[in-house]
Amino acid sequence: MPADAISAKFDVRRWDAVAGGAPRYQRYELELAPHTPILSALLRIRDEVDPSLTLRYSCRSAICGSCAMQINSKSRLACETQVGPEMDRHGRIVVEPMRNQPVLRDLVVDQSPFWTQYDRIEPHLKLDPAHPMPEGRPTSMTPEQVERFKETPRCIACAACYSACPAVEADAAFPGPMALAKLYRFVVDPRDHATQDRLVRIQPNGLWLCLRCHLCTEACPKDVRPSERIRDLKEMAIAVQGGTERGSRHAIGFKENIEDRGLLSEAKLVRQTYGAAGMIGQLPQGLRIWRKKPEVLHKPRRIEGADELDRIYEALDRESEGAP
Ligand code: SF4
Ligand code: SF4
Ligand code: FES
Repeated sequence: MPADAISAKFDVRRWDAVAGGAPRYQRYELELAPHTPILSALLRIRDEVDPSLTLRYSCRSAICGSCAMQINSKSRLACETQVGPEMDRHGRIVVEPMRNQPVLRDLVVDQSPFWTQYDRIEPHLKLDPAHPMPEGRPTSMTPEQVERFKETPRCIACAACYSACPAVEADAAFPGPMALAKLYRFVVDPRDHATQDRLVRIQPNGLWLCLRCHLCTEACPKDVRPSERIRDLKEMAIAVQGGTERGSRHAIGFKENIEDRGLLSEAKLVRQTYGAAGMIGQLPQGLRIWRKKPEVLHKPRRIEGADELDRIYEALDRESEGAP
């Protein structure tokens, strides 16, 4: 046993879809070096203590993406998360299967929802039939063109982002961060000729369901930054289709409200998002909010310090126009 060994306590969620019953947490205790990867600890438990413990893994090197799980409530790769820091921070290590996918047994989930959403974005190049791929040799791109999607090929399809995403939890129709990051990769690829069609088709029940919480980016072990790619897709979607989708109308209305007075006018935003006729459907919810917060119907005054906001917007506009 190493001299610096610590007593690590694992609470592992156990459940079997075939046997059914209520899930339970099983405590295992091991003496381990602090730098031990949690995957190695779980494999030791399986090999030496409890052969019924079920988990998925392959490379043990943060490459294959198969060992993603919830570790102390965060979506992590078990092979690159060490025991010592988790024990220091939490006093124990709670290990659970990934979220937003049905559990099959213990730490193994059915990844079908994740892969179904991936298929939905049609993750392959769609070439212009008039310009087919040159036979027998690769197509070339400039370094600047490659730079635009340099993060997305790092993705190892571990689904840590999908597990962390509250929009997936709220609405199974949402494609999820990884699928949208992949979509971005094809949208900005100069060889792909379906850019407009991809951006139009992903909007209803798709792109705009993202809550901009950035939990996917926080969870991603490969720094793909899916939430930033989703932000880019939203900007491109507005550029090709204007504010015709409800989500884009909401985003544009939000910006205009803040630009105008520095404060959100809830009633105005609802009208901008749903249109005058669509506001009728929102009346019951509006009344519920108004009873609790009558000030939502007040016309907001321009806030003190709004000039600062004007300067920020001007700087952002200059930046988007490419000015120094
Ligand atoms: S930023 Fe969007 S895609 Fe990412 S976790 Fe939040 S809701 Fe999901
Ligand atoms: S984007 Fe990151 S977290 Fe999501 S599947 Fe790819 S590597 Fe995993
Ligand atoms: S075992 Fe392959 S990423 Fe962890």
